[in-house]
Amino acid sequence: MNGRFITFEGIDGAGKSTHVEWYVERLRSRGVDVVQTREPGGSALAESLRELLLHRTMAMQTELLLMFAARADHLERLIRPALSAGQWVVCDRFTDSTYAYQGGGRGASLERIAWLEAWVHGGFQPDRSYLFDLAPPLAAQRRTSARAPDRFESEDIAFFERVRQGYLARVRADPERFVTLEGERAIPEIRVILEEDIAELCNS
Ligand SMILES: Nc1ncnc2c1ncn2[C@@H]1O[C@H](COP(=O)(O)OP(=O)(O)OP(=O)(O)O)[C@@H](O)[C@H]1O
Ligand SMILES: [Mg+2]
Repeated sequence: MNGRFITFEGIDGAGKSTHVEWYVERLRSRGVDVVQTREPGGSALAESLRELLLHRTMAMQTELLLMFAARADHLERLIRPALSAGQWVVCDRFTDSTYAYQGGGRGASLERIAWLEAWVHGGFQPDRSYLFDLAPPLAAQRRTSARAPDRFESEDIAFFERVRQGYLARVRADPERFVTLEGERAIPEIRVILEEDIAELCNS
């Protein structure tokens, strides 16, 4: 019996973390055994790579390869074993973020990303992905965290506009997998849509 793999996507400040714990609790209330995780990170090695990725200056190629290096470990040690054991896995960011940030944002070749994806994932894809779509200026206003911005959060509006377009291209390429949520809507309105989708996932 395989679990489901569910990912939360969107630019920094779009609302992923606001909903992910609530979402996991809603699944648990229905009796689903859920593991909550995130990228980059999620396994011990991948969390070490996350520190480098968020804070160290590096070439775009290094960034892209470290993202997939972290993902390979996360898949091997956490995601695949949990799914094989019948658990559901809810992940804050996954490979769509690589297409959007390293592809759209930094200009890495999408063909190269697809090649790395095929190598690291095989045919594996999320069963459901939520895209929190929000205009970059509004997302920037919402990012009022007390800590200093990381290497991605420090990028300008034009970067996040390219990232947003990168995500929207992912939705066009695989519309069945995605539910797009308008990030400017009120939190309870977004949760109504998520709750409906949870019901659909649990009944299919
Ligand atoms: N629908 C909403 N309406 C108003 N404010 C919101 C909404 N969703 C989230 N916020 C607020 O926006 C801020 C950023 O949201 P959140 O941390 O969930 O973004 P994120 O997508 O996880 O960003 P990051 O990628 O940087 O982790 C938070 O302060 C949150 O309370
Ligand atoms: Mg977050």
